[in-house]
Amino acid sequence: MSLGLLWLGLTLLGALQTQAQDSSSNLIPAPPLLRVPLQPDFQDDQFQGKWYTVGLAGNAIQKKAEGQGKMYTTTYELNEDGSYNVTSTLLRNQRCDHWVRTFVPSFQPGQFNLGNIKSYSGIQSYTVRVASTDYNQFAMVFFKKVSNNKEYFKTTLYGRTKELTPKLKEDFVRFAKSLGLTDDHIVFLTPIGNGLEGEGEGTQELARPGTVLPRKDLVPCSSHLRGGWPKSFLGASLGSGRP
Ligand SMILES: *[C@@H]1O[C@H](CO)[C@@H](O)[C@H](O)[C@H]1NC(C)=O
Repeated sequence: MSLGLLWLGLTLLGALQTQAQDSSSNLIPAPPLLRVPLQPDFQDDQFQGKWYTVGLAGNAIQKKAEGQGKMYTTTYELNEDGSYNVTSTLLRNQRCDHWVRTFVPSFQPGQFNLGNIKSYSGIQSYTVRVASTDYNQFAMVFFKKVSNNKEYFKTTLYGRTKELTPKLKEDFVRFAKSLGLTDDHIVFLTPIGNGLEGEGEGTQELARPGTVLPRKDLVPCSSHLRGGWPKSFLGASLGSGRP
């Protein structure tokens, strides 16, 4: 490698680190897990299937930066051992980033950890907690992640349909605020019909530069088209370098 390239590489690395520090220097602290509600009597089989991410809130989510983020979907498939395969696809640069990760059951029904966590560089812990759901209309799910010694948390408002009632959206805003978040950190995503399917949950936290995404395949969206699947995608702004 020439000295020029080496210098460029080091400069870019420095820029990335500076950026990472700036974006997380004043994170809202995550609430203790025990203070986050847990859906009583969680039914893992009923929670399966496709969810639209209608709303998103978190200490690394910036309303200004996300703007009109694009809606995406997440599909949960239950394995016999009680874990979920969680499938995400994200349209980016005219291609679908499509990958699967695993949520493994934790202490209580409705709480999960990211499976095979060692394959995600920098992620020290990752907890998922279904705060509330009626299974056939909405779900609010809480995610907490420690990455490079910083604690990130977020919550998603899932819908079985792209639209949810104003009341459910208000409930979600109230829930996000109960976690310590402010309006600046709460976004509602825009459904997009563009002939391509988009899915993705947590893409912004797993698809960071330098992060190894296990079992990730790049495939055309069309190979995943099935009847009734969404025509929407997650905006690139949501996926870019966000923890
Ligand atoms: C989950 O993923 C694993 C590994 O790819 C696969 O063997 C299994 O059949 C999948 N489970 C479901 C329910 O689709």
